[in-house]
Amino acid sequence: MSGLRRCCYGFPSRHCFATVHQTLISYRCSDSRLLLPTTASPLNSRHPISVSAPLKKRSFSAPAVDYPLSGYRSRLTFWLGICRGRRRQLKWLICRVWRRVVQPGDTVVDATCGNGHDTLEMVKMVADESGRGRVYGLDIQKDALDTTSSLLNESLSPTERELVKLSGICHSRIEEIVPENSPVRLVAFNLGYLPGGNKNIITVPQTTRLALDAAKRILLAPRGLISLVVYVGHPGGREELEAVEGFASGLPADEWSCCKFQMLNRPSAPVLVFLFKR
Ligand SMILES: C[S@@+](CC[C@H](N)C(=O)[O-])C[C@H]1O[C@@H](n2cnc3c(N)ncnc32)[C@H](O)[C@@H]1O
Repeated sequence: MSGLRRCCYGFPSRHCFATVHQTLISYRCSDSRLLLPTTASPLNSRHPISVSAPLKKRSFSAPAVDYPLSGYRSRLTFWLGICRGRRRQLKWLICRVWRRVVQPGDTVVDATCGNGHDTLEMVKMVADESGRGRVYGLDIQKDALDTTSSLLNESLSPTERELVKLSGICHSRIEEIVPENSPVRLVAFNLGYLPGGNKNIITVPQTTRLALDAAKRILLAPRGLISLVVYVGHPGGREELEAVEGFASGLPADEWSCCKFQMLNRPSAPVLVFLFKR
């Protein structure tokens, strides 16, 4: 655990990095060396975080841990999965970060629905008795929207299903589907191609950049989050990561805290980017 504390030492915003920090330390790994191959670093700060920075005493208390994945016998195995970039564990980590930001009744956007797994997670986070929560989902592929729709129909009650609006348009046009008077708390991007689909239909830096500009404009709820999973293993993936990093590093540090979570010794593992609005 001390390894992570060192990683996060010096982050500029208590709220933003406490979110990632608490999510990460909640694994309560007993061996800090396991954390060293990964880094959580700010993208728009002039104070880089070093894993070898001196350890300062912090008063964080780790929240109670729930392990939703069955079959993982020990925390050690679970942490190794995170460090090896296994997708299920990474997804769980991302959802933990989302859950610290999103409240029932919020409006959120899934900018890349794909097979609908993220859309479904979002509905569970915003649904409550008030029925105010909304999830706007976008994908340019009809197949993706059909799969998402089927998953939602199977998994949700009719009332919950009504909270979701799916649109077959490019995510650079988010503002056309989210009503102006709906402050958005989370915009999530899972970039790349549709798993099991046509690998030639992928997100591209130009429209991703436009979509990030639009996401920034609609993210009006206090302490909102733009969350990205960037795949770098396919052609064009690294250029897309550069576009995301260029966008993030240009955000003013007094309004945004931007960090990425990247495997240092697995160069093709997906990179997580979190842009927290203060
Ligand atoms: C990695 S998948 C998303 C996976 C999804 N989040 C899930 O949970 O299954 C990326 C998706 O982005 C979609 N996509 C590509 N370009 C897009 C664009 N400009 N606007 C919206 N969606 C796009 C693809 O069709 C693909 O379904």
